[in-house]
Amino acid sequence: MPSQIEQQLHQQLESRKERSLLRRLVVIPETSADFSSNDFLGLARNPRLGARFLKELNSFPTHTPPLGSTGSRLLDGNSRYAEELEALIAGFHHAEAALIFNSGFDANVGFFSSVPQPGDVILYDEYIHASVHDGMKVTRAGVKKAFVHNSLEHLKELLQTVRREDQQQQQQQQAAKGAAGAGASAGLSGKNKANNYKHRNIFVAVESVYSMDGDTAPLKEIVDLLEQFGAYLIVDEAHATGVYGEQGRGLVNELGLESRVFARLHTFSKALASNGAAMVGPKVLKEYLINYARPLIYSTFTSFSNLASVKSAYQMLIAGETIELVHKVRTLITHFRTTINIPPHISLLPSTSPIQGLVMAGNARVNALSHQLIQAGLNVKPIRFPTVPKGKERVRICLHSHNTIEQVDLLIRIVEDWVQKEAQEQEVGAMVPLPAILDTTATTARTSNETPIASVSSERSLSLSTLSASTKKLTIPSKL
Ligand SMILES: Cc1ncc(COP(=O)(O)O)c(C=O)c1O
Repeated sequence: MPSQIEQQLHQQLESRKERSLLRRLVVIPETSADFSSNDFLGLARNPRLGARFLKELNSFPTHTPPLGSTGSRLLDGNSRYAEELEALIAGFHHAEAALIFNSGFDANVGFFSSVPQPGDVILYDEYIHASVHDGMKVTRAGVKKAFVHNSLEHLKELLQTVRREDQQQQQQQQAAKGAAGAGASAGLSGKNKANNYKHRNIFVAVESVYSMDGDTAPLKEIVDLLEQFGAYLIVDEAHATGVYGEQGRGLVNELGLESRVFARLHTFSKALASNGAAMVGPKVLKEYLINYARPLIYSTFTSFSNLASVKSAYQMLIAGETIELVHKVRTLITHFRTTINIPPHISLLPSTSPIQGLVMAGNARVNALSHQLIQAGLNVKPIRFPTVPKGKERVRICLHSHNTIEQVDLLIRIVEDWVQKEAQEQEVGAMVPLPAILDTTATTARTSNETPIASVSSERSLSLSTLSASTKKLTIPSKL
């Protein structure tokens, strides 16, 4: 007889299954063409990186730390190797300091849970990554408010509101101190004391390239705006590291904004084919995080082999060995966007990054198209509600330097055929079962309530109500 907790867990999983939201781990067939991973430059399978990595590993044990770090960075986990790597990363990103975390997730949690001081304000793009949400769950900031994705107007409104409130607060304090000074402490300047009032710190969290939409933040305009309000910008460069900027330094670098951004997160887990991340910024930020960021303090530091892998990837960037790969992926992006021809009811996300997306309302529709592509040996993922808002479900297509023009053309052909058939089926109005589809949107889960594991949808049918006013049902062809 299962225990009470087992029964409760089972019930919740059943409920997810009924709502077509059950997630499962899947193993992607090695033969499928990669249109899904974050390995934008193909470094995860790059022989040059492999050779550099093996060379680095071979320096063990002469000049290297033990294989396992053996403890938290604050206990036994630190090493000269790690510190030299941080210096290399800080230098590369033109920052005062870099601090390595075990993951980008940890870095965001560490930053947002500890850096904002009591009562401070965090304004974040509504599409910000789940890790920032998790950090904000335990932050001491007094205000956490989302602004409409990439909306400078909304961000400005919120900034103005915060500063207006600050001013009101300041005036109230001045008045209170003035009254107290007049009544009791002659000689003490109420005005001077009132000048001690500190405006709240405002932190603004954005991603340079958004993981689900592939679009970029208007960083230059955001920086200009924030400087008017004395606010601090934190840019998550997870999907831009390696791909944007001079030798892959990121979008902040590309736009010449390095000295105007408070902190940047460079993850090693996407284009750099490793694990972990570096928070880069002022020296004092590094020292503060070492003292207060719990994911860093209370977790065993990453292993030597991973540090060696990160170092090797940075060596490739520094040596300019990724420039051609970036060029190749850019060519494929242009080819994809200028070739694909889809009707207006399916929108191609306005992205110039390797992350592309076809938005079509309804989990079932994105499941069906993904299924069709997977059947053809192309690995793509449906990104479904609640990972993205209802009505914004999409098939996410990641382009890589290791994709070929032929693969991209095949993908385009399948999408176009599927769309055409869907329109025809709409006319026929028949209804057939939809296939179960794998969903591994795990690490890109955007909202705080998302659980980062993979899933299988058992959604079986699709109402046409999402496509038109018609009440007909849709047939999804099982084969092209
Ligand atoms: C924008 C963004 N930030 C942070 C992370 C977390 O990085 P990591 O995978 O290194 O934990 C991700 C991962 O999906 C991400 O997409």
